[in-house]
Amino acid sequence: MRQLNVAIIGGGTVGSGVYKALRRNGSLMAARIGARLRVKHVTVRNKRKARSVRFPASIVSTDWKAAINDPKTDIVVELIGGTSTARKIVEQALKLGKPVITANKALLSEHGESLFQLAAENKTSLYYEASVAGGIPIIKALRESLVGNQFTQIYGILNGTCNYILTRMEADGEPFEDVLADAQKMGYAEAEASLDVDGFDAMHKTGLIASLAHGFWVRPDAIHVEGIREISTLDIEFAAALGYKIKLIATICPVTRNKRSKKALPQVQVSVCPTLIPQSHVLASVSGVFNAVYVNGDVVGETLFYGQGAGQDATASAVLSDIADASLDLLNHQSIRVAPFVAHTEDCEVLPWEEVVSEYYMRLSVTDQPGTMAKIADVLAKAGIGISSIVQPEGHEGKTVPLILMIHDASTASMQKALKQISRLSVVKSPPRMIRVEHFQ
Ligand code: NAP
Ligand code: HSE
Repeated sequence: MRQLNVAIIGGGTVGSGVYKALRRNGSLMAARIGARLRVKHVTVRNKRKARSVRFPASIVSTDWKAAINDPKTDIVVELIGGTSTARKIVEQALKLGKPVITANKALLSEHGESLFQLAAENKTSLYYEASVAGGIPIIKALRESLVGNQFTQIYGILNGTCNYILTRMEADGEPFEDVLADAQKMGYAEAEASLDVDGFDAMHKTGLIASLAHGFWVRPDAIHVEGIREISTLDIEFAAALGYKIKLIATICPVTRNKRSKKALPQVQVSVCPTLIPQSHVLASVSGVFNAVYVNGDVVGETLFYGQGAGQDATASAVLSDIADASLDLLNHQSIRVAPFVAHTEDCEVLPWEEVVSEYYMRLSVTDQPGTMAKIADVLAKAGIGISSIVQPEGHEGKTVPLILMIHDASTASMQKALKQISRLSVVKSPPRMIRVEHFQ
């Protein structure tokens, strides 16, 4: 049986997980793919650091260049994170014609288009299953299993850390910062916490899924993103009372063309934002570090992919799947069966966020006095925005009370304008909150 040598660049949470899993299931994989896999190099930044996994001294180094250039290295796995050194690692390996596996969604979001191009020029491949939704095989599902579908709707919970934080805030009313610290201890969070909580990590993943599903490269700056920092337990409680949960939802949906629109190009809504979803929807039951991707294809119909979205073992499982694919390419004399990304649509664009039409939840903090509601309703009526329901807990005249308005479909632009006017009313006591509502129709 042929032996293939793997260089793991980065021996942190995911790198250690891959090493452990290969030790545990290496012979099983060999039997299944027809090649023995040997970890020939693990490179780290600091060789003396205490680690949960003990790598043999003979394979550990700090010299990633030597590990990649080693003529015996067949497959390179980039697991250091970040976008500068990681880019150099991936480029160097691809230029040598070696298949590369990465879990680095930030790198791919920023430089994926040119890296896929470089892989093609060097007749090799760049695999990235672990970069989206941890252990869920969503990349493979979209590029292989569902290749015969046009994707009419894709909705996802794509960040394990945010879902873990929202779940704990909802279940125990725990403060945001405490739960984030726990997510960091468990190895779910990115080195830079803002990537998770401000929605950027989910945005990177959403761009990768959208590009794959719709065949044009979706640049990160075209994606609307909002994180969960501003979500309060008060919003979670009001949402629950109204029959909703708040989740950080990625939306990738082609827009039915508006007859009034002069836009010539088909458009796709690509966004990531906290969203109220009905408690009865399947995505509402996705808790903790779990992720899920709901995919509706014109041939297959509705499908749902569910699993752990972050963490050592789940992510390692996705890396192993890519190592198997890269091994099969090599055993096949480098002929790649299905390219990991193929651009196939030139005439498509991302729908500008201001044009997105949605239902909304609005939370105001207002003075409980006669005429308050009339003033707010007047602003909304003049903007052509309809209210579908109103909730105000019983207050005391003259005191400040929360006021919740559920809003019928409205464009984001008109909502933002109305919200600005409402925030200037003397009866409104703190900045209004507005959260999208999705009924998945
Ligand atoms: P991590 O625990 O911080 O590990 C990073 C590793 O890279 C460490 O071993 C570090 O060395 C090493 N490293 C950093 N710079 C290096 C350099 N210049 N040369 C050699 N080694 C270097 O990160 P992680 O959580 O494993 O994440 C790795 C990648 O996987 C990231 O792109 C992340 O977004 C992605 N990812 C993570 C998860 C997850 O649940 N953690 C899930 C999916 C995808 P030292 O150990 O010596 O510091
Ligand atoms: N920080 C990421 C998350 C890791 O929490 O989802 C998995 O990509």
